[in-house]
Amino acid sequence: MNRVYNFSSGPAQLPYDVLVKAQAELLDYNSTGMSVMEMSHRSAAYKEIIENAEKNLRKLYNISDDYAVLFLQGGASLQFAMIPMNMTKIGSADYIDSGYWSAKAIKEAKKFTNVRVVCSTKDENYNRLPDFEGIKFEGDYVYMTSNNTIYGTEFKKYPQTGDIPLIADMSSDILSRKIDVNNFGMIFAGAQKNIGPSGLCVAIVKKSLIGNAPENTPIMLDFKTHSENGSMYNTPPTYGIYIAGLVFEWMLANGGIDAIEKINAEKAALIYDFIDNSSFYTNTIPAADRSLMNVVFKTSDADLDKKFAKEAAANGLISLGGHRAVGGLRASIYNAMPIEGVHALIDFMKKFEVDNK
Ligand SMILES: Cc1ncc(COP(=O)(O)O)c(C=O)c1O
Repeated sequence: MNRVYNFSSGPAQLPYDVLVKAQAELLDYNSTGMSVMEMSHRSAAYKEIIENAEKNLRKLYNISDDYAVLFLQGGASLQFAMIPMNMTKIGSADYIDSGYWSAKAIKEAKKFTNVRVVCSTKDENYNRLPDFEGIKFEGDYVYMTSNNTIYGTEFKKYPQTGDIPLIADMSSDILSRKIDVNNFGMIFAGAQKNIGPSGLCVAIVKKSLIGNAPENTPIMLDFKTHSENGSMYNTPPTYGIYIAGLVFEWMLANGGIDAIEKINAEKAALIYDFIDNSSFYTNTIPAADRSLMNVVFKTSDADLDKKFAKEAAANGLISLGGHRAVGGLRASIYNAMPIEGVHALIDFMKKFEVDNK
């Protein structure tokens, strides 16, 4: 077996220990004589799996009973529509436009509510975060993307929105550092970066915000349906939730969010320090806006960037090409990327610089 270090923005590398556990349990989960994939979602064994996954996520983020934890389908993208469908009362919402994914959310929300884009760095190709200081928020909710996967920027603090619920797409930085869930109306994340397999979307929703969807809302798109049925109105993505549960267990066994946050900061600092001290690689994001999850960088030449990604892959460091919207290179270093992977990347960067200077 020759496992690679996978720097993909998602689906991303999973913790090795989680894969080993899933492998050991693949054919016979806990003496049931079957795989979790083959198991009825109504069985006692599965009930325990989904309940433990929820319990452990609550423990990791200290989530109170004021919030529902929902395991949804349709990835993070379905939330771009579900949010305005479920949260519209006044008929307008404030959106912070910080990148590709918030732009997509804005486009979708416009079908259901009046969108006010309160700040944006679109004109600067999202190469820094927009400034929300001093904005007087209004409407049904304030929407933001906490980490901009493609542009490599991440909000380290969140807007104070008072009584207006703050909704954050945390797809690419959920569970990477401490947050106070109580400051949010809703947090959601596609699972495929810090949680588990794609398709699954984990949502943490303030219960007081559930139950406001119009009568004609399709039943599967109403938060109430999922909240009232323990995310089992229909057959949930059972295996994805099982893996998510193993990831939450892995995090708890490794010191929880505090420990993960520390190591994530260490990993990101190693790469940024290396880039900042190099005359060969650059990252032009203002230091305060830099993402700890997605490190974007480039050489002086687009062809050299391509050569870098190709040669890195041949050396077991895969998916380092930047998103087509920005080009260059990107190292996604989510929770499951071990520090050894970061050291291996930096060693490769050094060698590539010597060979191509
Ligand atoms: C911040 C962010 N939001 C949303 C999405 C879309 O997620 P999905 O493919 O699960 O719909 C992504 C995917 O990379 C993302 O990075």
